[in-house]
Amino acid sequence: MLGKFIVFEGGEGAGKTTQLNLVNEWLTGSGWTSRMKGYVQGDYPPVLTTREPGGTALGKSIRKLLLDVTATGNEAIDEEAELLLFAADRAQHVSNCLLPHLQHGSLVLCDRYTDSTIAYQGYGRELDLTLIHQLNQIATQGLASDLTFWLDIDPEFGLARTHDREQDPEIETDRMEANEIAFHQRLRQGFADLARQHPERIVRIEAHQSDDVVAQQIQGILESRLQEWYP
Ligand code: TYD
Repeated sequence: MLGKFIVFEGGEGAGKTTQLNLVNEWLTGSGWTSRMKGYVQGDYPPVLTTREPGGTALGKSIRKLLLDVTATGNEAIDEEAELLLFAADRAQHVSNCLLPHLQHGSLVLCDRYTDSTIAYQGYGRELDLTLIHQLNQIATQGLASDLTFWLDIDPEFGLARTHDREQDPEIETDRMEANEIAFHQRLRQGFADLARQHPERIVRIEAHQSDDVVAQQIQGILESRLQEWYP
């Protein structure tokens, strides 16, 4: 693949979205984005930021169904239905967004990907891991990240952070955050197991530190990867 695919993963309140945006700003400020223009074909951007669920038009509708507690009325979402909705979002995202950008040389920064399904639906909901791997395989067409930052945070700490954010009346607790603490502890274990199984791809970042300290660590790791990828 001409482009490179970087994913940000973690539990609730780990700061993924903040860090993804800081990386995007740093890439521009440090001149990497302009250097990468030389590697891109056609009208594709040197850097794309995107997310799962919700990286396509179809995905935005799926995201609303999955996270907005009011979107399905009073009907609870079945766990298998939830798994399939995340897979549907991913299949659309991979074929309509991720693959075209990566094939044309963009660097893609993505907020969550397959490891979230293993952690949340596999460890959190305790659904069958073999089935999840098969679904991930179908949805991704085999596309894996080049590098995944796992922002690791104690769930009690992370959830407290999200609740602080939700003092803003515009922001409500979503359906996934509302799960019991044991669910969040299990999914943290899921990310830990994944990091052990895939040390070549997943880097654990200690996310209890301030945003600045976390950002510096991520930039340090990225800088050396970028020098390898864009000599
Ligand atoms: P996200 O947009 O990262 O929300 P937040 O900023 O609140 O972390 O992710 C949406 C939610 O969807 C989050 O609770 C994790 C969950 N999720 C899964 O359960 N499975 C998946 O496969 C994905 C991609 C996300």
